[in-house]
Amino acid sequence: MTEATAPPFPNFPMPRECPFRPPAQYAELRAERPVSQVTLPSGNSAWVIADYDLVREFLADPRTSANRAHPGYPSVLPRQPVSSQQAKGLLTWMDPPEHTAHRRMVVNEFTAKRVAAMAPHIRAITEDCIEQMLVHSHPVDLVQELSLPVPSRVICELLGVPYSDRELFDKRTVVILNHQSSVEDRMAAWQELRTYLSDLVSAKVQVPEDDLLSRLVKKYQDAGTFDHELLTGLAVALLVAGHETTANMISLGTVFLLRNPDRLAEFKAHPETAGQMVEELLRYFSIADYSTSRVTTADIEVGGVVIPEGSGVIALNSAANNDEKVFTGPEEFDPHRDARRHMAFGYGIHQCLGQSLARLELEIVFTTLFRRIPDLRLAVPAEELSYKHNAAFYGIYEVPVAW
Ligand code: HEM
Repeated sequence: MTEATAPPFPNFPMPRECPFRPPAQYAELRAERPVSQVTLPSGNSAWVIADYDLVREFLADPRTSANRAHPGYPSVLPRQPVSSQQAKGLLTWMDPPEHTAHRRMVVNEFTAKRVAAMAPHIRAITEDCIEQMLVHSHPVDLVQELSLPVPSRVICELLGVPYSDRELFDKRTVVILNHQSSVEDRMAAWQELRTYLSDLVSAKVQVPEDDLLSRLVKKYQDAGTFDHELLTGLAVALLVAGHETTANMISLGTVFLLRNPDRLAEFKAHPETAGQMVEELLRYFSIADYSTSRVTTADIEVGGVVIPEGSGVIALNSAANNDEKVFTGPEEFDPHRDARRHMAFGYGIHQCLGQSLARLELEIVFTTLFRRIPDLRLAVPAEELSYKHNAAFYGIYEVPVAW
């Protein structure tokens, strides 16, 4: 067993030299100290894990908690006080047995089979967004015209949230996920989102419709466990997790392809390979790098290092997805590799509930976009794009495009 690293620890998050690649320090950590300590923006220390097998082992360990109210939780965003009422229903923040019970309530809505049946509808939404994009004079911002509207409309229709209210939840989501928002602004945004969805849950109780929220109301009522606050929390979790993540992948993937004409030409010639390409894009970008964070509920030995009980641990899924033991030449974008073992959707009990939906949305968007607008191009020099270095999910703020 080795001793824990002595302070001062390197700062976290670590800087990226290339907007398309994870921080170079991850490779050094993996080679030299795959389990080590870092200093968070708050000044608190936390542990990071940078090796594929160890990340997997840690995320499967039941002696960990996802409870963000725990003082040891390694918050990269400025920490905000969270009451148990506010946290209610947020799956990513829950531990078993509550997590198991509530995940079970929604999991059937997101099976690969259920999601596959949504394909024609997702295609129609994508075509419609592109149609509207084409009537504008260009350049247009791809983020506002395509990346955000497609996943937003899909998750809204699935949940039964009126898409006409998108300004309300889009704005709040940006504040919630941005590192630079003040604690007060983030708390206010959470509360406003909760109030909005709480009213919507009341409306579904009064007049059920053919949507996920109405089905959940009925399921919980039938089970005799209907809890308004809990269902509101589940709705918040699905709405926030369900659009911003996929939107960032659409923007990053499009910019990457536009900047790599050989890859783009290959994809246009073989759109049937979209599934495999999306898998590699997910690995390559690993946009939710540090959402796989936990706090230990016992002393845990990881890779020969003992992480004490109550410690914050960030299991870096981007570092794992660039581990050369698993992905040969990980720095290369290779759409021919089998990338399915990546952990961009996490691993273990919290593994992404919406992963089949995200995959399908990405496949449909890339295929449709480059079929409908084969001469799409960036309308500004690539160096001028501004990347989300200060957000919970990596992405691009604005992508001006023309054709
Ligand atoms: C959980 C990534 C899209 C809903 C997660 C986790 C990751 C992730 C890494 C695990 C967090 C943890 O371990 O604590 C992504 C990425 C996406 C995406 C990269 C897009 C490319 C979606 C979509 C939905 C969704 C479209 C819509 C339903 C969820 C939920 C959880 C989750 C509800 C929490 C599951 C639980 O705690 O049991 N996601 N996600 N995600 N994701 Fe996604």
